[in-house]
Amino acid sequence: MQLPLLALLCLPLTGALRAVPRTIQLVARDNSHSKRGVSGPVSEPLLNQFRGTDLQWYGNVSFGTPPQTFGVVFDTGSFTAEVTGIQCQDACRAQRKFNYTASSTFVNLNKTDRLVFDTGGGVEPSDIETLDVLSVKDSFSILGISAKDFEFYLITNQSSGFSPDPYDGIVGMGYQPTAGIFPAMRNAGLPAVFALYLTPHTIGNAELTLGGYDMSKTHGVAPVYAPILPPLNETNFWTLAAQDIIVNGARIAKNLFAELPLVFDSGTSNIAMPKNLTDAMYAHISPDIQPFGDKGAYGIPCAKLTGITTPLNITFTFASTSGAPFALSVPAQELSVGPLREDPSMCQTLINAQEGDSGIVGASLLKYYYSIWDVDQARLGFVKNVY
Ligand SMILES: *[C@@H]1O[C@H](CO)[C@@H](O)[C@H](O)[C@H]1NC(C)=O
Ligand SMILES: *[C@@H]1O[C@H](CO)[C@@H](O)[C@H](O)[C@H]1NC(C)=O
Ligand SMILES: *[C@@H]1O[C@H](CO)[C@@H](O)[C@H](O)[C@H]1NC(C)=O
Ligand SMILES: *[C@@H]1O[C@H](CO)[C@@H](O)[C@H](O)[C@H]1NC(C)=O
Ligand SMILES: *[C@@H]1O[C@H](CO)[C@@H](O)[C@H](O)[C@H]1NC(C)=O
Ligand SMILES: *[C@@H]1O[C@H](CO)[C@@H](O)[C@H](O)[C@H]1NC(C)=O
Ligand SMILES: *[C@@H]1O[C@H](CO)[C@@H](O)[C@H](O)[C@H]1NC(C)=O
Repeated sequence: MQLPLLALLCLPLTGALRAVPRTIQLVARDNSHSKRGVSGPVSEPLLNQFRGTDLQWYGNVSFGTPPQTFGVVFDTGSFTAEVTGIQCQDACRAQRKFNYTASSTFVNLNKTDRLVFDTGGGVEPSDIETLDVLSVKDSFSILGISAKDFEFYLITNQSSGFSPDPYDGIVGMGYQPTAGIFPAMRNAGLPAVFALYLTPHTIGNAELTLGGYDMSKTHGVAPVYAPILPPLNETNFWTLAAQDIIVNGARIAKNLFAELPLVFDSGTSNIAMPKNLTDAMYAHISPDIQPFGDKGAYGIPCAKLTGITTPLNITFTFASTSGAPFALSVPAQELSVGPLREDPSMCQTLINAQEGDSGIVGASLLKYYYSIWDVDQARLGFVKNVY
């Protein structure tokens, strides 16, 4: 998730008329490699524990004329597009780089900036990560949906947490009624709706669908939708009001919050909650789960994971657009994120404490639901995945 909200961009866009949803294949990032950007040896038994805990997905888009292709994370927690430029050298060794001199339609807007990300890397909350960027515009294209003069950022340097990433940039899919890639979708004759199928690595076939959703992923079940929280006329996170949080049968949130705003963020790995709620949730899971370090992480001795007798069930409840309640659950296998870097005998648990009065749910929940992000109707829809 990107920390500060960036200004709304207004983009002139063009595109051919097409009216069917289109689908792009996504590749799951295998979590056996460090999500935090720490390279180094990882012992094999712990790798097995990591495997299957895939928490970040990316797919191809292109920029420039002729098009240059890049793998990007489709991040519902940010609002702008960033791709590595040839200006970034050592810090971007692992990334493909946009060569602006090779694009006939490139325009340098000559404005530099530093973007700050809370990488939500899944393991202990990392130090804040940064991208140094240059504002530019050029053509942008995904699945034949294209925008001329699309404003984005070229990454000219990045902090070390981003360096080992297997992808080259980020495309912000935060809620924006008239910006981001959504005007291009409308120009292409599609509704501003997209869907994410974020499967574990072992399942594969993860996908992003633009312009609607892929019926083959909902196996005949009608999605349940909930309205996102206002303001709806401007850039906003995809936020639903949670009515309660139920942990192993105990209702947790009602005592602490009247209604908890929960941000749905495909760019965050796990779950972040206000500190009092985090403590209350863990109290119903295991007394062996304790704060680790001073950045909001929690851990449990890895040896004690098997001793937890109650299967973990974290359930968030919401009111749907029709008013009927519905629930989204995180299952037991998400409890441990894997060993902590500073002490590999300790395993990090999935909820991090954060400041403020709202929570974030990321990949550890989104993996279990086919999610439909409807900008036009300001709502989020879900169908439980069946693997
Ligand atoms: C992205 O494009 C590259 C070539 O530019 C290709 O090798 C790769 O398989 C593509 N990835 C996906 C997920 O389609
Ligand atoms: C960028 O493209 C130009 C023109 O095609 C080429 O001469 C140059 O070598 C490329 N630079 C890099 C770093 O790839
Ligand atoms: C950016 O700066 C270059 C060189 O200083 C200049 O030639 C160009 O016109 C500027 N572009 C814009 C869009 O301001
Ligand atoms: C890139 O950023 C790092 C800090 O993250 C800094 O140490 C380095 O000097 C920067 N490199 C350039 C070329 O600005
Ligand atoms: C959105 O609506 C709110 C309340 O009606 C108003 O205060 C705000 O200025 C509007 N924002 C934009 C970008 O129009
Ligand atoms: C998880 O808890 C919720 C709410 O108590 C319940 O509806 C659901 O059936 C539980 N799921 C499992 C797998 O036990
Ligand atoms: C829980 O923490 C939030 C701030 O994160 C605060 O607004 C709220 O009042 C707290 N609730 C209680 C019951 O202390």
